[in-house]
Amino acid sequence: MAQNSSHDLVKAEEILSGYPHEEAALIQILQDVHRAYNYLPCDVLVRVAESLEVPLAKVFSVATFYKAFALEPQGDTIVKVCTGTACHIRGAGQLVEELERNLGVAPGGTTDDLRFTVKTVNCVGACAMAPVLIVGDRYWGSAKPARMAKYLAGGGDDEN
Ligand code: FES
Repeated sequence: MAQNSSHDLVKAEEILSGYPHEEAALIQILQDVHRAYNYLPCDVLVRVAESLEVPLAKVFSVATFYKAFALEPQGDTIVKVCTGTACHIRGAGQLVEELERNLGVAPGGTTDDLRFTVKTVNCVGACAMAPVLIVGDRYWGSAKPARMAKYLAGGGDDEN
């Protein structure tokens, strides 16, 4: 995947200007940066470290500690397949395979057009609906590989 090595720092400067320049603001700043860029670009993290006068290693340790933070570009829509036990038994693997066929990326990957990032997750607490597919904010229960294109397009439960 092609990645830009430098980013427009204007958004980062705007975020930084809204916080005190101290380490206590680090997590909130990283949350705002993540929202603004859809991930935490390396050069923005360097700028955050400079601005807060915090060691870059500290910024990276926080950025890598929280699962909600991504250090690689993310797609506009995150697609998650639950691979917990119930979903695994009821066909989560086939959903993953169908996603690979549809989007050309394995779990953890992002499409080249940055539309989708595919992830697997542990039980999301909806085992009665297994297998569960989550496209953006939308949960699809009893998800079927044959309807994957519809799920990705925002529809697909018409026959559920
Ligand atoms: S195992 Fe998938 S929702 Fe519980």
